[in-house]
Amino acid sequence: MAEPQSPTTSYDIIILGASGFTGKYVVREALKFLNTPSSPIKTLALVGRNPSKMSQMLAWASHPQPPPPVPILPADTSDPPSLRRLAAQTTLILNCVGPFRLYGEPVVAACVDAGCNYLDICGEPEFMERMEAEYHEKAVEKGSLVVSACGFDSVPAELGLLFNSRQWVSPAAPSSIQAYLSLESEKRVVGNFGTFESAVLGVANADKLVELRRSRPRRARPTIPGPGLPKGPIIEHQKKIGLWAVKLPSADSIVVRRTLATLTENPHGLLGVNESVKHCMERENFWSTVKPAHFGVKLGSKSLLGVLRFITVGIFIGLLGKTAFGRCLLLKFPSVFSLGWFRKNGPTEDEVASATFKMWFVGHGFSDSSLVSQGKRKPDMEIITRVMGPEIGYLTTPIVLLQCAIVLLAQRDNLPKGGVLTPGILFGATDLQERLQENGISFDVISKSTLSS
Ligand SMILES: NC(=O)c1ccc[n+]([C@@H]2O[C@H](COP(=O)([O-])OP(=O)(O)OC[C@H]3O[C@@H](n4cnc5c(N)ncnc54)[C@H](OP(=O)(O)O)[C@@H]3O)[C@@H](O)[C@H]2O)c1
Repeated sequence: MAEPQSPTTSYDIIILGASGFTGKYVVREALKFLNTPSSPIKTLALVGRNPSKMSQMLAWASHPQPPPPVPILPADTSDPPSLRRLAAQTTLILNCVGPFRLYGEPVVAACVDAGCNYLDICGEPEFMERMEAEYHEKAVEKGSLVVSACGFDSVPAELGLLFNSRQWVSPAAPSSIQAYLSLESEKRVVGNFGTFESAVLGVANADKLVELRRSRPRRARPTIPGPGLPKGPIIEHQKKIGLWAVKLPSADSIVVRRTLATLTENPHGLLGVNESVKHCMERENFWSTVKPAHFGVKLGSKSLLGVLRFITVGIFIGLLGKTAFGRCLLLKFPSVFSLGWFRKNGPTEDEVASATFKMWFVGHGFSDSSLVSQGKRKPDMEIITRVMGPEIGYLTTPIVLLQCAIVLLAQRDNLPKGGVLTPGILFGATDLQERLQENGISFDVISKSTLSS
């Protein structure tokens, strides 16, 4: 039941959208760290527009234990004063209310105004870039960190790219790192309607992203040796990792590109608001070992038929998502048009528990990058790394979000004063990767080899 709160109450974390499909899994993950000895999460509140639904979610999330005395507060994203009250009451808001293009901006605005920190699980590039364009400067001034894509989109890709890139010991350097995502399950791989709706709206508004980018100054581009990603066939057979694969138009490569642009503008990373000399040296050392590379993501399947199914769903969403009638069909029959990958009521707990992901990073580059300026064009070295973990949407995403939150709360002095930033540039030099490893997401080097010419 909702408990009346005095406006002076303050929380370490507020979870907004706690009644949602993803929100309830985020609550379950947060309870693991609430008030444990080394955790900076001492106080937590759940927020949404339906208190009784949130009470049920809290009971589900704490099962088999009885629900802990976590306050449940009312707020609606269409009611800015309710959001301002929240932002004034907490150090950090974790936003699980999507589609973000519809509901996210008032939350970001309230956080920035109050100088409160904000993390979300958005995978919508247009929303992220618009928030950066409109709120970055004010967020710097107010001391508010605003970081989208702190879920499966796009932390495994961001940290996975940094991990692969740091395996290249000078004079070696990567030219391209191609990621291959493979989703596996003994049952079915299923996503909830919220993600499907966000993807459909993303297609519908693709021209808005193009317009936004045209209206903004061009970002810095890193210097990368050698050619870009090879232009292969539409369907690639990646024999080394045993996958058929097709390009995945997800947010990952866009978020990574923004991270690399910020790194190019700030080659030592971003100065912490109150960081020690030791931390400053560690940060500079970390970023000096990162070698930018062209980056792309493909969705892989062990069978050619699996890839043909991805393409079919891509065609449905790509074509139907462009018209109002088509969108209506897609959103009314998600299961039909996604060939069973998305359902109105989401996956069952068994389906969530039995799914896993592997993200392979195949890096191609040069054993001596100085030879590129002397005309060497063909990469002669390959490094394959892999990030692996549990189901992406409702297990990995909450793990990633909570670990980002813990790093932000525990290491606030080492992070920049404020700004709208990507997870890679903000958390790259922290212990986020180690924390993810401790929580079931692994990072491994698979092979280092010479490519025959
Ligand atoms: N990064 C990733 O990898 C990742 C993974 C999973 C999900 N996501 C994203 O997370 C978002 C949510 O997905 P989902 O499947 O959890 O959706 P969902 O089940 O529909 O949950 C949406 C949540 O937003 C709340 N909400 C909607 N309108 C609101 C408003 N005006 N004010 C306050 N709360 C409001 C809903 O509250 P009620 O219960 O009151 O309706 C619900 O709690 C989507 O954008 C999805 O793409 C990303």
